[in-house]
Order: sequence, then C-alpha cells, then structure tokens
Amino acid sequence: MKKVLVIGGAGYIGSHVVLELLDQNFEVVVLDNLSTGHKELVPKGVKLYVGDITNYDDLKEVFKTEKVDAVMDFAAKIVVPESVKEPLSYYHNNLEGVRLILEAMVEFGVKHLVFSSTAAVYGEPENGVCQEDDLKIPINPYGESKLAAENLIKWSSKAYDLDYVIFRYFNVAGADSRLRSGLISDKLTHIVPIITESMLGYRGPISVFGFDYPTPDGTCIRDYIHVTDLAIAHIEGLKYLLNGNKSAEINLGSNAGYSVLELVNEANTISKLSYTKGPRREGDPAVLIASNKRAKKLLNWEPTRNLKEIIKSDYEFRKTRKK
Ligand SMILES: NC(=O)c1ccc[n+]([C@@H]2O[C@H](COP(=O)([O-])OP(=O)(O)OC[C@H]3O[C@@H](n4cnc5c(N)ncnc54)[C@H](O)[C@@H]3O)[C@@H](O)[C@H]2O)c1
Repeated sequence: MKKVLVIGGAGYIGSHVVLELLDQNFEVVVLDNLSTGHKELVPKGVKLYVGDITNYDDLKEVFKTEKVDAVMDFAAKIVVPESVKEPLSYYHNNLEGVRLILEAMVEFGVKHLVFSSTAAVYGEPENGVCQEDDLKIPINPYGESKLAAENLIKWSSKAYDLDYVIFRYFNVAGADSRLRSGLISDKLTHIVPIITESMLGYRGPISVFGFDYPTPDGTCIRDYIHVTDLAIAHIEGLKYLLNGNKSAEINLGSNAGYSVLELVNEANTISKLSYTKGPRREGDPAVLIASNKRAKKLLNWEPTRNLKEIIKSDYEFRKTRKK
C-alpha cells in the first residue's frame, strides 16, 4: 500500500483528496498549519501533523517519521485581493514553502509530487480559453507566487530525481456527497457558497454584475468543477506518476463553463434565489475557462458531476452549518 503525504489536507480541496485517497486504499498522513484548515475535516484514523511548510523542522519531522512514497501539496494562501495587499507573505508561503517541501523531498528521497496550482497563472488569455502551453502572465501576486512555485518545481525536477504533475484550475465548488467535508470559511469569496448562503437565508439577494457581455445570455461565463471530480483527477495524477509516466502540467476544466445566470437558474430549481442587477466589474473578462483535452488524453479524466450536483451538494453541506 502506498503512503501519501497530503500537505494542506485539512483545507477544502485537500480534505476531499484525503477522503478519495482513503476510498482508493492509499495510506494517508496530513501536514497542515490549520491557518485556514480545520481539524474536523481530517478523517479519524489519519495522522495530522500540525506544522508549517515554511519551517523546515516541521517538514523534517514528518518526512523522518513517515516513509512516504509521494507528496500532494495543497497548502497555500489563496485570496487574490489579500495577495495584492500582502505580497511578501504570499511569496513566503506559496514559494518559500514549496522550496522547503522540495528540499525535504530531495533530502529524504521522495520522488513524486502532485502540485495544486491555479489557472490564475494564465492571467487574461485572449479568447478566454486556457490551454496548458499558453503564455503565462499572471495579473496578481497570488498567481505570480504560484507560477514561481511551478517553475521552481520544474527546475528541481531537472536537477534532482523527482517528477511532478502540476494541476491548474479555476473555481472549485460543491461538497462531498456524504457531507464528510465541504468549504468552511468565515470570509466566503466564491460565488457558489455565496449563492447557497443566500438560498438558505444566511444573507440577502446576490448581485449579478454585467448583463451586456458577448455571451449567449449576456452574463460572464466561468469554469466550475465539483470538488470530488477534482479530487479524483488528483489521484489519477498520482497514479500516473507512480506508474512511471513523465512529468506533466494539466488543466482541470469543464471545457464549456456556465454563465452566472445559468447558476442562478439552476439554484432556483433547488430553492428560491433572488438577485440584484449591477454594472460590469472592472477587469472581469466575458469568458474564462480551462480546456480539459490534456486531462482526457493523459489521465482519461473529465468532470462527471453537473451544475446541479455542484450547487445541491454545497447547499446541503451549508445547511449542516446553520448560522
Ligand atoms: N478553491 C479554489 O477554487 C481553487 C482554485 C484554483 C486553485 N486552488 C488551489 O488549491 C489549493 C487548495 O485550496 P483550497 O481552496 O483547498 O484552500 P484552503 O485554504 O481551504 O486550503 C489550504 C490549506 O493549506 C493550509 N496551509 C496554508 N498555508 C500553510 C503552511 N504554510 N503550512 C501548512 N499548511 C498550510 C491551510 O491551513 C489549509 O488547510 C491551493 O493551492 C490553491 O492555490 C484552489
């Protein structure tokens, strides 16, 4: 049985990956500083090391104690406006943290890394559809810090005996179908949980910004991936490396995306959702989605959970966390 270290495994995406790894009979240990993660999201029986990737001693303790076969890294600071205000702490966490993870992997001879990156590394692609080999011109420190970490991983893979899969994606949403995990945050910034909070009466009507974009219904189109589909893709990436395949950068996208009005209409089939109309927001492109051709080719992966499952699962999870 292969043993996997999931860094950031007490967070939203990492905890869903832990559940999926356990379901697929991997042995799992978690390292997390619980800055935005939650102990309760780490399943019973999984060893949690509370430690920080920017502290080499914390990493060393885990790598020395646990002989892991691979690392999956989800630990990052991820709030774009905050990254503009605090670029130093974003680079420290998202780049220096990854540098130390790589250092520990080299010191302890761990060869495989699955790295959770972001489609924010692409910046503003011309036609709104991101392909893996497109130019990468991030427009904020969050995206820049993740791109710098990606580049460091690539250079390290050339210099040392390690391989990687780097995954890039946009909006991750939804919750585990058995409600064992979901997104927990006091500062929700993503549209799906804002919609479900509004449906549950935890907040007022949502605002929809811009109805005059060149899209079929005039509202922006974005990529939404169910967190369990995403978790499955990460495990396919891990198996890909364990099977001896070569390093790869892979987008995890829906290929088509959904408009904001499609989200609103779908939500209304589950429970009443009201919205107010606002003007366009500066810097919002009409379409922003990621191609998933490479994920299909290399991993035989594509998302299988639709928009209803995304909204409904988040709605059910949020209901359990009544405000
Ligand atoms: N949520 C999205 O829609 C989305 C989209 C694209 C990419 N991503 C990427 O997915 C990854 C996970 O995001 P998430 O949404 O689960 O966020 P999250 O905040 O829920 O999870 C991050 C986890 O990492 C931990 N962590 C942060 N800094 C750490 C450190 N220095 N040492 C140890 N642990 C640390 C946090 O406590 C938390 O448990 C990130 O790398 C992010 O860039 C997320």
